[in-house]
Amino acid sequence: MIAKINELLQEVEALKAANADELEALRIKYLSKKGAINELMTDFRNVAVEQKKEVGMRLNELKNKAQERIAALKEQFESQDSGCDDLDLTRSAYPIKLGTRHPLSIVKNEIIDIFARLGFSIAEGPEVEDDWHVFSALNFAEDHPARDMQDTFFIESHPDILLRTHTSSVQSRVMEVSEPPIRIICPGRVYRNEAISYRAHCFFHQVEALYVDKNVSFTDLKQVLLLFAKEMFGADTKIRLRPSYFPFTEPSAEMDISCNICGGKGCPFCKHTGWVEILGCGMVDPNVLESNGIDSKVYSGYALGMGIERITNLKYQVKDLRMFSENDTRFLKEFEAAY
Ligand code: DAH
Repeated sequence: MIAKINELLQEVEALKAANADELEALRIKYLSKKGAINELMTDFRNVAVEQKKEVGMRLNELKNKAQERIAALKEQFESQDSGCDDLDLTRSAYPIKLGTRHPLSIVKNEIIDIFARLGFSIAEGPEVEDDWHVFSALNFAEDHPARDMQDTFFIESHPDILLRTHTSSVQSRVMEVSEPPIRIICPGRVYRNEAISYRAHCFFHQVEALYVDKNVSFTDLKQVLLLFAKEMFGADTKIRLRPSYFPFTEPSAEMDISCNICGGKGCPFCKHTGWVEILGCGMVDPNVLESNGIDSKVYSGYALGMGIERITNLKYQVKDLRMFSENDTRFLKEFEAAY
């Protein structure tokens, strides 16, 4: 009996199983009711009394070893399995949540698209600019209030360097290195020293357009403005030009569109006038052409500039300008369907 136990002990210690089925077969072979160990337990009855103690101990040892070994093999399979169970290479990937395009980008791209269809190409310039490109080259007088510390962020150590206050600076950047015809659209961020509130921020976005060629007239400007307004706000949109003043255009105008919220009938948004202002424009002042190396006797041009936040507000009625820079995903998600 002892010899049999020893033999089984050796077998049990060397047990191996390649998979769960093989392991189950081993369990049945050694540990089930009719298994080898139970058989020995049955035979235990016939063991001589003086041997019972030793044989009993050896038998228990065998049983424990067999249980331990089979449990260890089982654990090994389970730990391998738990990795494999989750791994389904045929499964489609988790849906990755896409971000949404920012409303200002949506509107900026729409503006660019409209002007691109009219033959305008994109031009960009630096946000940290010098006084020349932001003011002097655009015919701002030395004492023009826009240069005032109130409006402009100057670089402390260098009073000639500043954060551009408008994208009109790109006009002069392009004119100084190009020959007409010039037909550009300049989107970008601009900075002004304003107290932040629901209707003003220290940075915002503009789009500037410039066309310089021979025989460019105010009629051309007006036609492009009308086309832009209809494309942007719908075919029923009307425009109206009011005389205005900008240092870099002469004559200058501001353009209103019929309020697209009430359709021109009058509402709180348009302060019951039926009109809302959306941009500044005019014929490029000959001084500006000359300052930037373009012969004003041969060439003329028009320019226009608008705030992207303003256009976005009109399209989507965003009441608080600060929402545009807070990155609140609940706000941004509202524009999921807009592009
Ligand atoms: N630069 C002006 C501003 O920031 C906007 C503007 C007005 C641009 C008239 C123009 C223009 O090109 O012709 O308020």
